[in-house]
Amino acid sequence: MKNLTLFLLSVCFLMACTNTEKQTEKQKEMNRFIDSLMGQMTLEEKIGQLSQCSGEFATGPDNNPISRTEDISKGLIGSMLNVSGAEKTRRMQEAAMQSRLRIPLIFGLDVIHGFRTGFPIPLAEAASFDLDAIERSARCSAIEASASGLHWTFAPMVDISWDARWGRVMEGAGEDPYYGSLVAQARVRGLQGDDLSADNTILACVKHYAAYGAPMAGKDYNSVDMSMGHFANFYMPPYKAAMEAGAATFMSSFNDFNNQPATGNSFLLRHLLKKEWGFDGFVVSDWGSVQEMVAHRYARDEREAALKGITAGLDMEMVSECYRNNLAELVKEGTIDESLIDDAVRRILIKKYELGLFEDPFRYCDVEREKEIVNSQPLRDEARYVAERSIVLLKNEQNILPLSPSVKSVALIGPLAKSQKDMCGSWSCADQNKVITLFEAMQQRGLTINYSDGYDLKTDEITNLQHTLAQVRKSDVTIIAMGEEAWESGEMRSKADINIPAGQQKLVEEIVKTGKPVVVLMMCGRPVIFNTVREKAPAILCTWWLSSEAGPAICNVLWGDYNPSGKLPMTFPQHIGQIPLYYQYKSTGRPAGQDVWCTKYIDITDQPAYPFGYGLSYTRFDYDNVRVEKSDEKGVYAYVLVDITNSGNYDGEEVVQFYVRDEYASITRPVKELRGFEKIALKKGESRTVKFPVTDKQLGFYNNDMEYIVEPGEFTFMVGRNSQDVESVSFTL
Ligand code: NOJ
Repeated sequence: MKNLTLFLLSVCFLMACTNTEKQTEKQKEMNRFIDSLMGQMTLEEKIGQLSQCSGEFATGPDNNPISRTEDISKGLIGSMLNVSGAEKTRRMQEAAMQSRLRIPLIFGLDVIHGFRTGFPIPLAEAASFDLDAIERSARCSAIEASASGLHWTFAPMVDISWDARWGRVMEGAGEDPYYGSLVAQARVRGLQGDDLSADNTILACVKHYAAYGAPMAGKDYNSVDMSMGHFANFYMPPYKAAMEAGAATFMSSFNDFNNQPATGNSFLLRHLLKKEWGFDGFVVSDWGSVQEMVAHRYARDEREAALKGITAGLDMEMVSECYRNNLAELVKEGTIDESLIDDAVRRILIKKYELGLFEDPFRYCDVEREKEIVNSQPLRDEARYVAERSIVLLKNEQNILPLSPSVKSVALIGPLAKSQKDMCGSWSCADQNKVITLFEAMQQRGLTINYSDGYDLKTDEITNLQHTLAQVRKSDVTIIAMGEEAWESGEMRSKADINIPAGQQKLVEEIVKTGKPVVVLMMCGRPVIFNTVREKAPAILCTWWLSSEAGPAICNVLWGDYNPSGKLPMTFPQHIGQIPLYYQYKSTGRPAGQDVWCTKYIDITDQPAYPFGYGLSYTRFDYDNVRVEKSDEKGVYAYVLVDITNSGNYDGEEVVQFYVRDEYASITRPVKELRGFEKIALKKGESRTVKFPVTDKQLGFYNNDMEYIVEPGEFTFMVGRNSQDVESVSFTL
């Protein structure tokens, strides 16, 4: 694969040429094929299609990695997860081809941020506010994973979250439903392309449906309780958007929703997703979540769990075996109609057909192709491209950054600077030994590196301070790599305290006292709190977990080869007690901002450390002349315009943000909501007018009957460089 861009373009061109009439003919042919196949299937074989087993390793509890070959060759398993590699998947597919009806398996894996070439964690990528880069990243995941036998990834995770204690925020696009919807669509497009039958596209799986990002107290797997109005306006949009982008599959979430586990929730699955939205793909449970309905005390036993799952519209069961062990009996005794099973089977077979697996079950397991593509240079180039764009500049006093080319010696402090494992972040499939750390990247730049651990990640003790300070004193600049370890965010990694440990922060204070220039790199998988560092360190970059190309990307930003352009997709709090903290709060009857009798804390501020949308550049962008122009165009009420000038000393990119406040409405509405953004590149001295359309999409909301409506009246439009730093204009519809 010599030139990835050319390759991507050719795929798009082929897709554009597909003719709709032909597709309809193709669909008829598919339906005939599936009807005929289902006509031959026994009830047991049908239930087999609804069963997914885990292969080599576990990504959840209670799993015995036993050989499934016999069941596969009897046609009693429809899908495997946690198996990859052209060779291994081929062997299992061969077993499936021994079965009576030769129905191919589909192989799924959590390809969350790149496959063997690691891309930045999704939250980091979201900070790029670059939908094209995000789509390209997903495209690369699909290209690499499909070369390694995989047909299906359990991504994108589109759960909105306002709670940084929840460890899984690292997997999503942050706190905003509007932006989260666009990112979700970009990821679906990247994974699936326009044509699932291309052998380098894979099924996307939108997860975790629904509202998994709002567990009470930020504790993973905890109960969720929210009003329908809240769900519809803040949590639902990305799921719906991803469906509209054509996502082939959905995953039901672990949590309960409106007092029923999502996995057995007819409102979510059968009513909203399948009936209202017209979703024609299939729904897989999360790991064991059919069986977990027993622990929820929503089902008396596994039999009842199977009954509730299939009735609610849950098509495939991941790992637990309630379906395998109970559905046949439920049908035979007449408790459920076989048509329920048929509907689920048909949905799954359609996706297998669309992937082209009936034509050639081995089309994803070509060892030669795997060798050529996995870890290839074009993928690494793409990983670096998006990694650079994911970095957020939080502080830059006295323009310490970018570092001058004359900086030749660096005091590099902190074990994270050398950790390949941590750079990968959570939910990683990346080849750790191919990750370029910061230390290595600096070596490659030919710098003199005066390294010291500085602190112990496990005990949080400052180690050998005198040695560290000596390294600092003899260097031109000090770079401190600090933050969390990768394992501290992700599934099951909720934290009650998201403060960066005191020892690390104290070390920064000691180093700053030397008077030498200091840059802090905050490495994390979620918003973290680091008030001492914020106050003391003159320059701070949030570098998250950037995976395979972390080191080069960070160096490119430090030395100004790339001018940082990332913006925070989640609010960073100052105190844990502020959580959940988010920019689109509501006014309340006693709005904040008064000394007394208003919504506030008496012991801490309401202000975040960094607001949503925040991020600096090495250059300066001036915002001028925010204005509204009425429009005669159909469907567009007006345009909001702003003139942006790059008045600083570097070329750069800026994410221009557009927020809307509905002044009065029939339900209480947030103080502002992101309703548009544009990432623009401006050369030093260049100006440009950015124009945001105002349509129903910008002005509307879901009422309490879950209808999307636009109410005439007064609106405030805000344009700015982050959710707090905005200029406003009024508008009446
Ligand atoms: C549990 C996680 O919640 C889900 O996101 C993942 O896809 C499955 N395990 C499979 O690993």
